[in-house]
Amino acid sequence: MSSILVFGGSSGLGQEVSDHLTHSGHIVHTASRSAQAGSPYSSQVDLQQLTCDNLDKLFDKCGIPDAICFSQRYRPGTSEYSAINEYQVSVASVAQILDYLLQNLCVTPEYPVKVVIVGSTYSTRVGRDQGWSYHAVKHAQLALTKYYALNSMGCLNTYHVSPPTFVKSGALEYWKKTQKYQKWLQYPPKTMLSVESISNFIVELLINGSPLLSGSDLRLDHGVSELYNDQ
Ligand SMILES: NC(=O)c1ccc[n+]([C@@H]2O[C@H](COP(=O)([O-])OP(=O)(O)OC[C@H]3O[C@@H](n4cnc5c(N)ncnc54)[C@H](OP(=O)(O)O)[C@@H]3O)[C@@H](O)[C@H]2O)c1
Repeated sequence: MSSILVFGGSSGLGQEVSDHLTHSGHIVHTASRSAQAGSPYSSQVDLQQLTCDNLDKLFDKCGIPDAICFSQRYRPGTSEYSAINEYQVSVASVAQILDYLLQNLCVTPEYPVKVVIVGSTYSTRVGRDQGWSYHAVKHAQLALTKYYALNSMGCLNTYHVSPPTFVKSGALEYWKKTQKYQKWLQYPPKTMLSVESISNFIVELLINGSPLLSGSDLRLDHGVSELYNDQ
C-alpha cells in the first residue's frame, strides 16, 4: 500500500487517478481549491496563492508521500484569464512543492519520491485549439521534470507524461461530433483515447515507476505525433 498525493484530484484526469488508486487499496490525498468536506484525505490548496504555511499544513496532514501526481490545470473560474496565474498554477507551484520536499522533509535517495507531472502532447508540439501560454507552461513542465531528475540527486524520480486530448467520462457523444474524433479514427487506436487509459498508465508509474525512466517524457499517443504532417 502506498501513500499518494494528487494535485487536481477533484476533477478530470486527477480524479480518475485518485479513484483508481483508492479502489486498489492505496491511501490517496487530494489537493485542490475545492476540498471534499469532511474527508481526512482531501486538502484545500490554491496553487495560485501557495505559501510555506499552506505547504506546512498540507504535509503535516499527509506526511511524506511515496508518490505525487501533478494533474492540476489552470481554470480561472470567474476571474479574468491571466498567463501569469497559469504559470504560477502549472509551473511555479510544482517547483515550490518539490523544493519544499527536498529542503524541509527528509526525502532520501534510499526512498525516492516518485513524481508524475501531467503534461500534454503540446509540451513539444503545436496545437491550434490552445493558446500560447498553455503551450509555454506545458513546455516548462517538461523542463521541470528534467531539472529535478538531475538536481534532486536521486531523491525524486520524475516522469513527464504527455497525453493527447482524452475523453472524460460522459464526454464521448460530444467528441464524436468533432473533427478531432474523425481524425483519430484514422490512427492506430481508431478512437480518441479515454481518460481511463491515460489514468491506468499514470497509476502504474506512481506505484512501480523505475528510476531508469526518471527525467523522461512519456508520450501516450500510440506514436501518432510522429506522423509527418503531409501523410
Ligand atoms: N483534458 C484533456 O484532454 C487533456 C489533454 C492533454 C493533457 N491534459 C492535462 O491533464 C491535466 C488534467 O487536465 P483535466 O482536463 O483533467 O483538468 P480538469 O478536469 O480541468 O481539472 C483541473 C484540476 O485542477 C484543479 N485546480 C485548478 N486550479 C487550481 C488551483 N489554483 N489550485 C489548486 N488546484 C487547482 C481543479 O480543482 P479545483 O477547481 O477544485 O481547484 C481540478 O481538480 C492537465 O495538466 C492538462 O493540461 C489534459
